[in-house]
Amino acid sequence: MCGIVGYIGKSEAYPIVIKGLRRLEYRGYDSTGVAIIQDGKLQVHKKKGKVAELEEAVLGKNMHSHIAIGHTRWATHGEPSDRNAHPHLSNNGRLAMLHNGIIENYAPIKKELVLKGYTFKSDTDTEVLLNFIQDIQDNNKCDLEEALRIALKRIVGAYCILLIDQDDPETIIAARKGSPLVIGIGKDAHYLASDASPIIEYTKEVVYVNDYEIAIVRKDELILKNLGNEKQTPFIQKLDMELAAIEKGGYEHFMLKEIFEQPDTIYDCLRGRLLHEQLEIVMAGVDNNIEALTKASRIIIVACGTSWHAGLYAEYLIEELCRIPVEVEYASEFRYRNPVIHAGDVIIAISQSGETADTLVALESAKEKGAFIFGIVNAVGSSIARLSNAGAYTHAGPEIGVASTKAFTGQLTVLAMMALKMAKFKASITEERYVHLVNELASVPEKVKEILNNTSVIEKIALKFKDAKDFLYLGRGYNFPIALEGALKLKEITYIHAEGYPAAEMKHGPIALVDETLPVVFVATKDMYYDKVVSNIQEIKARKGQIIAVASVGDLVLPTMSDNIMFVPEIDEVIAPLLSVIPMQLLSYYVGIAKGIDVDKPRNLAKSVTVE
Ligand code: M6R
Repeated sequence: MCGIVGYIGKSEAYPIVIKGLRRLEYRGYDSTGVAIIQDGKLQVHKKKGKVAELEEAVLGKNMHSHIAIGHTRWATHGEPSDRNAHPHLSNNGRLAMLHNGIIENYAPIKKELVLKGYTFKSDTDTEVLLNFIQDIQDNNKCDLEEALRIALKRIVGAYCILLIDQDDPETIIAARKGSPLVIGIGKDAHYLASDASPIIEYTKEVVYVNDYEIAIVRKDELILKNLGNEKQTPFIQKLDMELAAIEKGGYEHFMLKEIFEQPDTIYDCLRGRLLHEQLEIVMAGVDNNIEALTKASRIIIVACGTSWHAGLYAEYLIEELCRIPVEVEYASEFRYRNPVIHAGDVIIAISQSGETADTLVALESAKEKGAFIFGIVNAVGSSIARLSNAGAYTHAGPEIGVASTKAFTGQLTVLAMMALKMAKFKASITEERYVHLVNELASVPEKVKEILNNTSVIEKIALKFKDAKDFLYLGRGYNFPIALEGALKLKEITYIHAEGYPAAEMKHGPIALVDETLPVVFVATKDMYYDKVVSNIQEIKARKGQIIAVASVGDLVLPTMSDNIMFVPEIDEVIAPLLSVIPMQLLSYYVGIAKGIDVDKPRNLAKSVTVE
């Protein structure tokens, strides 16, 4: 939620910050702003809309400066507008600040400040915090760093802030709690950002700032302190990311690029772990904790959105192969309903960004209660990865499109390997079945390639149904999470209402929606439910619903029931979601494009939801 960038150094700051904001637009894009210090004067430029609109607004203006901070917003407090865009200015006009997060107790603080005569130009919690800092500085006659420290001890909520003072144009002060901040160390320069993508082309040396730390950043100096004013030693890490990974590489949209990357990302996820010839699975995080994982009295999976759908797949998978009870929880509900957690419970957290606030907060409280946390995360070094006791990265590379695609198949891949490994250790699977499933899993990258080699049918189906008002997605067993995921993808990037349902449950209510205008997508690959799903299709057909089906290559029955068939290669049902989700992603992509939607940045969404 919200992307932030800062630069201080020898080069021109504005172009670096703007370029960084473009890379972070996936985090929020309803307004943009920058602050620079020019000849000892603060200048703030901000605009409702995407980064390009700000760039246009400042065209021809003198933006020369060696220091700049910038923000791309996903609104929490106050509608998207010029005046609510960050950075904000303090009442004395000396300080500029931007913020990613939420200050929960801003209202009483605002009240206090209003009584003291402060005025507010925006509806944001950020402007309140900024003036609170100014007020503390004025009253205590202290420096800005000390005023910030005092303010942060009083506020409740999450933040990553960047703060500059026109009287000290050589310093950016930053602080974080709950919202990410990474600082790149260059030659006579420092780069600050919400993730490493704005930094990668300048330096590979980075420091991930921890919660409750304040960074005092100058051209050639980085000082980290905790809220007790004690110096902390910055832990410098090497970035393992290439620039090409965050560029479009000839594709029209990041989403399409990321869909087409999946044969490689799934292969990368398997590489070095699924040792096909030896029929072994090596995963350090699982190997080192195999007792804790397999002896768990219960596994609780905590996640949101698409990652929750991966969790639902894992419930079917781990219960079937490992015979361990699994519960899948929406992180936002889990945290606040005071769940029963025993010391022997294992929590699996699934997150692409590793920064989702609902998941993070849920994990913090589960950890306090003694649970063992296993993180399945894509973003290396992210908060959830660091909070976990152990874990496995999905290695899908940076995912920029708001709609999760390759990260999801990475999650499924990790979960499949993990379940197989645990099942083998527990001997809850026969050797024959294990070998078969290892072989099936190893075949996935090539089979995904086959689907991607022929997308024209999916595109045609998308064009045929692009004007539908509603869609129903149905599946059973391992394909039920994929029906949910298909519906979510469609909602996100086409704005068409869609519902995912277990195919058999449909007759208990949603069947009332069916008429000749309703497209019903069946995920109906060959599995133990196949005949039953065919009966469900008949039920929809009898009510004149429009059938769209994902079917296994060689299926001769479904083509007799519908003209709208998207084929995927045959594979064991346990692994099938890795294939059946691909047509779901493409169908949504093509409908979104046909409707003229910016599929990488659909309205109201943000890639990384760092507010609760
Ligand atoms: O980064 P996370 O996996 O924790 O994010 C969870 C959800 O916000 C995310 O999956 C969201 O639903 C995506 N936009 C789905 O495409």
